[in-house]
Amino acid sequence: MYRMIYISTPQAEIGPADVDDILDASRKNNTYNNITGLLIQDKSRFLQYLEGDQQKVEETFARISCDRRHIAVIPLKSGYIGRRQFPNWSMASKYVDSDNSLVEAVSALIQNCDKEVSEDLLNFAEARDRAA
Ligand SMILES: Cc1cc2nc3c(=O)[nH]c(=O)nc-3n(C[C@H](O)[C@H](O)[C@H](O)COP(=O)(O)O)c2cc1C
Repeated sequence: MYRMIYISTPQAEIGPADVDDILDASRKNNTYNNITGLLIQDKSRFLQYLEGDQQKVEETFARISCDRRHIAVIPLKSGYIGRRQFPNWSMASKYVDSDNSLVEAVSALIQNCDKEVSEDLLNFAEARDRAA
């Protein structure tokens, strides 16, 4: 199973309706491409985890990278892992408001993940929370 994780910065004018549009398109395309994952957002960052066939994940990420609804798209990690981590989620999502931490949101979503994946996601969320 190929997976990649990236972080990006939402455009300032992005609101909840835009995120709903992103999730609608993501769920439709990801179901078709057999891609699953997570999209976590706070007011200044997206953190996304994508997994599936390598070519499909790379094609999807190439589309996402060009999307003008966010900037500064930075891949954090990619490569092969043993198994699909989020088999039931064409794109799980969570918006974290300013009173809550990304770590809490990530913790709630990674309960069924392998150790390596949960550690990565938590480390990125912790780094993000420290920077906030
Ligand atoms: C933060 C973010 C995450 C996204 N995640 C996905 C995704 O998981 N899958 C996907 O197909 N498109 C995703 N998109 C949308 C793509 O950039 C693109 O708009 C979409 O794939 C085009 O689909 P369409 O040709 O069916 O309209 C995301 C966009 C943003 C800004």
